[in-house]
Amino acid sequence: MNRIIAPSILAANFLELGKEIECINNSNAQWIHFDVMDGVFVPNISFGAFILEQVHSITPKPLDVHLMIIKPDDYIDQFANAGASNITVHYETCQHLHRTIQSIKDKGIMASVCLNPHTPVELLSEILPDVDMVLLMSVNPGFGGQQFIESTYEKVRKLRRMIDDKGLKTLIEVDGGVNTETGKKLFDAGANVLVAGSFVFKASNRQLQIDSLLQI
Ligand code: DX5
Ligand code: ZN
Repeated sequence: MNRIIAPSILAANFLELGKEIECINNSNAQWIHFDVMDGVFVPNISFGAFILEQVHSITPKPLDVHLMIIKPDDYIDQFANAGASNITVHYETCQHLHRTIQSIKDKGIMASVCLNPHTPVELLSEILPDVDMVLLMSVNPGFGGQQFIESTYEKVRKLRRMIDDKGLKTLIEVDGGVNTETGKKLFDAGANVLVAGSFVFKASNRQLQIDSLLQI
């Protein structure tokens, strides 16, 4: 089973963003996670397509865009055109999730859906064949550096069973509070992609931290 690490640049030093991206370029991390927050769906504001375009211009790594925004449909074109390789929308923000997923796929990129910690995985049973990845939040979205919510392990196991029972290849990504301890249990539970913000960027050697997650 593939194991992908996606450092979240939300925790990077933005005064040195070019150097931070360069550091990830030279690491074994396969993706870069890009957290977009609107101050409405989540109680924080981060950055948008303008920054994504600049990041895209200096990295060959796939950009994994996590939209924590209401009305994501209005912004799919912008983020796809700015260089997203994947766009993840929140289940909680989409009234017509199937349509939203199709419009992401129409841009020729991966389409994913994210669940807040309180949203049950069972709600995905009909959409699962249509998405490339499911992102499970293991903290309440909005901030880096929060404590991991333990019930996530069981949620990953349940989702893994649903995916395997349907014979699908859908990836499971987990976001929030990832470190070597939580990361190992998540991979064991059936996760494929781990997002890590503080664990990578608050360390003095980011590349070694990434390797430590790849080796668990
Ligand atoms: C939280 C974001 C996460 C965040 C994770 O809303 O979606 O991607 O950057 O940060 P850590 O790894 O510090 O919990
Ligand atoms: Zn995220």
